[in-house]
Parts: sequence; structure tokens; C-alpha cells
Amino acid sequence: MIERIAVLGAGTMGFNIARLFAERGYAVSLYEPEGEALDRIARMIRAENMKLDVGGDLEKAVAASDLIVECVPEQLNIKREVYARLALAIKPDALVASNTSTFGLQTLARDVPFADRFVIAHFFNPAHLIPLVEVVGLPDTQPGRIEALVALLRSCGKTPVVLNRDIPGFIANRLQAALMREACHLLESGVADAAQIDTAVRDGLGIRWAFKGPFEIADLGGLDIWSKVTGHLFPELDDRTEAPESLLDKTGRGELGVKTGKGYYDYADPAKTIEEMTERLQRFNAFKQIGKDDRNGH
Ligand SMILES: NC(=O)c1ccc[n+]([C@@H]2O[C@H](COP(=O)([O-])OP(=O)(O)OC[C@H]3O[C@@H](n4cnc5c(N)ncnc54)[C@H](O)[C@@H]3O)[C@@H](O)[C@H]2O)c1
Repeated sequence: MIERIAVLGAGTMGFNIARLFAERGYAVSLYEPEGEALDRIARMIRAENMKLDVGGDLEKAVAASDLIVECVPEQLNIKREVYARLALAIKPDALVASNTSTFGLQTLARDVPFADRFVIAHFFNPAHLIPLVEVVGLPDTQPGRIEALVALLRSCGKTPVVLNRDIPGFIANRLQAALMREACHLLESGVADAAQIDTAVRDGLGIRWAFKGPFEIADLGGLDIWSKVTGHLFPELDDRTEAPESLLDKTGRGELGVKTGKGYYDYADPAKTIEEMTERLQRFNAFKQIGKDDRNGH
């Protein structure tokens, strides 16, 4: 039974994951080693009156926890160091979940003493608003562990998807990377600019994808048509295996997107951009929930 949860790392993901569990009534401790980040988070918790313990003592945060969600930076050495400390500090039956975006579970679990109660729970930013959580276990994951995590996520209004096997990038990031490869190819070859490509996705593909997945859309369109579409277009598509030049160029110039005020677009007020996106997602989630309730006969 998962009642107490520790979240490690109070960055972009960790803070919202901790807030999600706290808002659903779980006892949550949030650990953050950086003093400045710790102060900022403590102020936010006070301002929003959240029931969330935050502190800079990892061992204290995890000691009584049934579930530990690791949200530390995507660097293997940092993650390994944290797992070594966890091995000495967690309860013998605690479950550990990594929120990694890119590492396979097998890579993370190598030489970890709690490997058979170690899983991936991959949330999407902003974690308290996007329903999908991808869950990955290994063949020797203890029985019942994945089911317990899935039940917890459902109790928080999430949509967990358990993968059949461990693979880097899981499902959604692989699909997103495939789309981004072609988007960068169209941009770099001058077929369209970023705004034109974003419009095609936002006002075309994206609207359908909010309600139907690619296989449902193929069924709707007709599989005879989709056999032709894929057969004709696959040879035309980009197939590079390195990160796109346009992304590397911008990164090299320090144009990292919203957080630096410039990326493919300019952002005069980054905080406002994030606020607007959050507000739209909240309204959209409410709208999607009405559709779900209708389908369930409510
Ligand atoms: N940002 C995203 O959109 C996103 C989405 C899904 C998954 N992820 C994954 O979530 C994890 C965290 O990403 P993020 O974007 O929140 O990063 P982030 O850099 O915003 O936050 C990481 C936090 O961890 C803290 N930290 C550093 N060393 C630590 C340590 N030894 N122990 C505990 N905390 C430590 C940092 O001070 C920082 O506050 C990564 O594995 C990332 O791949 C990120």
C-alpha cells in the first residue's frame, strides 16, 4: 500500500509531481539539494498553502516512504550516486521509480541492490496536468509492483501505459522525435518556416491526436489509403541519425527557447508564456473530461 511518497529533485518535473501527489492527499516529502531552489520552492509551498514537506536531507525524506520518485538531472553519474544513497536509506519494501526521459531501466538498474523493486514512471511536463505516465518494469520486477504503481497513478487521475518491454525513449518520446526529425527537415530545406509547421501540427494533426491515436485515425481514414500514404511517402522522409543542425545551431548560440527568452521564437515574458500554456491545458483537460464522462454515461 503506497501512502508516503518521497520525490527527489525539485526542478521542472519534481515539484509538479510532488504537488500532484500532495493534492491527492498522499503524505509527500520533496528533497532538493540546492539551497536557492529549496528557498524558492519553500516560498511557493507557503504561498499556495500546499501540504508538502520540502527539505535538504535525502535520508530523512526517504526513510519512511513507500514510493520514491527520482527526478534528478538526466546524468547517469548523478542518478547512480542517488541510488547508492537510497540503497542504504530506504525501507526494505519501498518501491523506487525513475522519471528518466531517455535511459532504459536496465541501464539504470545495473548494480542497484533494489533492482527488483525499481521501475520507470515517465511523466510529461507539466506533470500535474498531462495525464499520460509511461511505466516500465523488467522481467524480474517483483510481482504486484507495477500494478500498485498503476493503481496509485489512476487514483491521481493519471492515464498510465505499461510498456511490454524496456526501450529507450518509451513510446511518446520516440513518436515525438520521429515527428521532430521531419519538422526540422522541412524547416532546414526551406519548405516551410517554424510558424507554418507549427500551424499544420497545432490546427491539423494535433486536434485529431487529442482525441484519437494514429491507429484509430488510420482506421477512420481507411487502411487501403494508409497503405498507399505510407508506401508513397516513406521514401521521401528524412532518415538522419544525428540531432538536427537547426537545433544544434540554436543551442550553440545559447538560444534555448522559453527559458532564455529566444528559441525558434522570441519570448518577451517567459513566465507569462508558461502561465498561458498551463491555463490552456487546465481548460482543455476539463473539456476532455466532459467528453470522457459522456462516453461513460455520466
Ligand atoms: N523537463 C521535462 O520536460 C522532463 C519530462 C519528463 C521527464 N524528465 C526527466 O525528469 C528528470 C528531471 O528533469 P527536470 O527537467 O525536472 O530537471 P531540472 O534540472 O529542472 O531539475 C532537477 C533538480 O534536481 C536537483 N538535483 C541536482 N542534483 C541532485 C541530487 N544529487 N539529488 C537530488 N536532486 C538533485 C537540481 O537542483 C534540480 O532542482 C530527468 O531525468 C529528466 O530527463 C524531464
